[in-house]
Amino acid sequence: MLRDFPTSFWRDAASDETVRPLDHDVTTEVVVVGAGIVGVQTALQLAERGKQVVLVEAARFATGTTGYTTAKVSAQHGIVYTELVKSIGEAKARLYYEANMEALRFLEKQVETLNIDCDLERQYAYLYTLSSSSSATLLEEEEAAYHQLGIDGGDATSEVNRLLPYAVKKATVMRDQLQFHPVKYLQGLMKRFRELGGTLHEMTRVTGIEYGTPNRLETNTGHAIEAQDVVVATHFPFNDFKGLYFAKMEVERSYVVSAEVDEFPEGMFISVDKPSRSIRHVKLENGKKMAMFGGENHVTGHKQETVACYEALGEFGMRHFGAETFSYHWSAQDLITLDKVPYIGRMTADTPHVYVATGFSKWGMSQGIVAACLITDLITKRQNRYEELYDPTRSKWKLADAARFMKTNADVAKEFVKGKLKPSHKQVGDLGLDEGAIVNHDGEHVAAYRDPDGNVSMVGTACTHMGCTVSWNEAERSWDCPCHGSRFKPNGEVIEGPAVKPLSRKK
Ligand code: FES
Repeated sequence: MLRDFPTSFWRDAASDETVRPLDHDVTTEVVVVGAGIVGVQTALQLAERGKQVVLVEAARFATGTTGYTTAKVSAQHGIVYTELVKSIGEAKARLYYEANMEALRFLEKQVETLNIDCDLERQYAYLYTLSSSSSATLLEEEEAAYHQLGIDGGDATSEVNRLLPYAVKKATVMRDQLQFHPVKYLQGLMKRFRELGGTLHEMTRVTGIEYGTPNRLETNTGHAIEAQDVVVATHFPFNDFKGLYFAKMEVERSYVVSAEVDEFPEGMFISVDKPSRSIRHVKLENGKKMAMFGGENHVTGHKQETVACYEALGEFGMRHFGAETFSYHWSAQDLITLDKVPYIGRMTADTPHVYVATGFSKWGMSQGIVAACLITDLITKRQNRYEELYDPTRSKWKLADAARFMKTNADVAKEFVKGKLKPSHKQVGDLGLDEGAIVNHDGEHVAAYRDPDGNVSMVGTACTHMGCTVSWNEAERSWDCPCHGSRFKPNGEVIEGPAVKPLSRKK
């Protein structure tokens, strides 16, 4: 049913050309680290305001989460407003909504001004439940929060029952949201950034930072970048020990499968049931629709049989929408903060020229634009009314936040110890083709993978972030860390952080 290796529909639009890695030391006004939606958007806005900007990316641009999203650009972030009103109060919950809606309108205007062909279209966003009465009550409460905050939306149960091919018990709409093609969009931004004299270096991973005036960044190419201002737009901050970001975010993976179908309803839908389902479509030039079915979230590194996640989504698409051939399947990593509000702004009080944007939950397209606008304003010393809401150094934790903090760290400790004690009876010779496992090799635990051609790679099992034991992800062919979500290729190279160093090579 699925192609062998995960491939994103969006990444098909990417070019094969690599922009040269950093091959000399450089001094600039601003360095932006990470070329996803936050990095590229921030780099462009700063360049438009006359700043000299260097943008560096560890892999290729738009290959991180931005290339592997469902690309809904929405202020409807699941059931969130009820919780926000309770946790941060009505005024800030309203600001959160307004920040996201402002990002949507900004995006529309930017796409028009720069004439970017990125399949942007307005869609209604719907939450729905199939059966659970407690979920229906949650949706009723969310609608009350919409009303309280002046959000354009409300009950849409009969509307959704007309649209979807199965009966829902309760549904809630938020009107005039957006969907687009994220890679085409970023290509448009990148083109403009380079026209303005901005510089991009791909295949350049920042491995360390010396804070000062200027800040000095080390990279894996052996060259350094000095910059007055540093924007950390690497999804998980590569310098996460500054501000203890590893301890205040949860990391989840979620999955998408997509298939061409003849008919698909207008709208973007998310079920609030378990397992959740997130669905949307793209209109294709041949008149058909590329349907996307997302869900099956789990904490990163806590599930090895990840092929089953794709299969469950495929079965859902076949049963309800007549999908047959799944041309693409992909997954993404989501970072969730303790209070569900992203961390955007100055990274810590003692590094006022280092900025971070992270913890967008599953809503990086809208919150990524919020982040870019806010950080650009901070660097160029303009007022921004969302600064306090997103301040990464906000310290007034609620009791519930503290409880989650404790749990997250207790889980990390458990994974750390569990990995060290668990015996492995498997040997390298036991591995089949395209199979990975922790094996016992010369008396030590080794993370081993035998590729489809029979070649074996062996690396150390200790994550280079804080030493937890990595576990095999069979669908992505990666070693995933259960503690803070670092991921590594079979040969040990970092796919995503917080780790910045590869797993140790074994002979
Ligand atoms: Fe923190 Fe692996 S990501 S220990």
